[in-house]
Amino acid sequence: MNTQLDNPFREEQIAEIYSRHSHKYHAHQRAFEAFRTLIPLDSRVLEIGVGTGAFTDLLLSVGYDVKGIDRSEKMLKRASERVRALSEHCDLLDHDSSGKYDVVVSHSGGFTFKRGKFETYYQDEDNLEKALQKVHNVLVDEGRFLVDKGEHESEIDLGDGTIFSVEQEDREKSRIYTYTFKQGDREITKQQRRLVFFPEELQRMSSPYFNWNFANKLWIIGERI
Ligand SMILES: C[S@@+](CC[C@H](N)C(=O)[O-])C[C@H]1O[C@@H](n2cnc3c(N)ncnc32)[C@H](O)[C@@H]1O
Repeated sequence: MNTQLDNPFREEQIAEIYSRHSHKYHAHQRAFEAFRTLIPLDSRVLEIGVGTGAFTDLLLSVGYDVKGIDRSEKMLKRASERVRALSEHCDLLDHDSSGKYDVVVSHSGGFTFKRGKFETYYQDEDNLEKALQKVHNVLVDEGRFLVDKGEHESEIDLGDGTIFSVEQEDREKSRIYTYTFKQGDREITKQQRRLVFFPEELQRMSSPYFNWNFANKLWIIGERI
């Protein structure tokens, strides 16, 4: 595929790049193996942010009963047919299915725990609280909310002379990501801000929805209250 640098940040282009290279960026397999040891196979799972379906396909391969959501049609378009068939195109805040799931999982699907902090794509605390409430609402009484401890590569060779790199910097409640596409001397950069919280802050704002456990190496686990 051609990653000409005219506008590599178009949603369409990002989805295409993600569908081809996300396996170099995320350690899906490692996260999946840890998930497998934590979550019984007969669990009903809702995955937030299925994207191009890389993590979902792993869940399906061993027989989990999965439903998914994603707010990006461009990403969903690139998922496998079976992932598309079980996925709804919507933001978590617009999703409606009370008390149906044993597990809600986000594998870098808008929520991640990275470098000691919980990170969300939502840009304000009100929406984060609504999201926590929503997840609480779709889970059964003893349900769990799993969020990956996402580490990723900071530089990826996209294979056509283009290098994609990511830098992160924390400023108070924000984490600023700087994404760069570089082809020879040409460089295009874009910044994105995420909200971040220390574990104690996450716990404080999760009450009365979840008690968080941070002990697992690859996942943080919110036990539904
Ligand atoms: C980095 S991709 C990860 C995709 C996939 N889970 C994986 O592991 O490869 C993040 C995806 O989450 C979706 N997303 C982020 N926040 C979301 C939300 N609040 N509701 C639905 N989808 C969301 C984005 O549209 C994007 O497709």
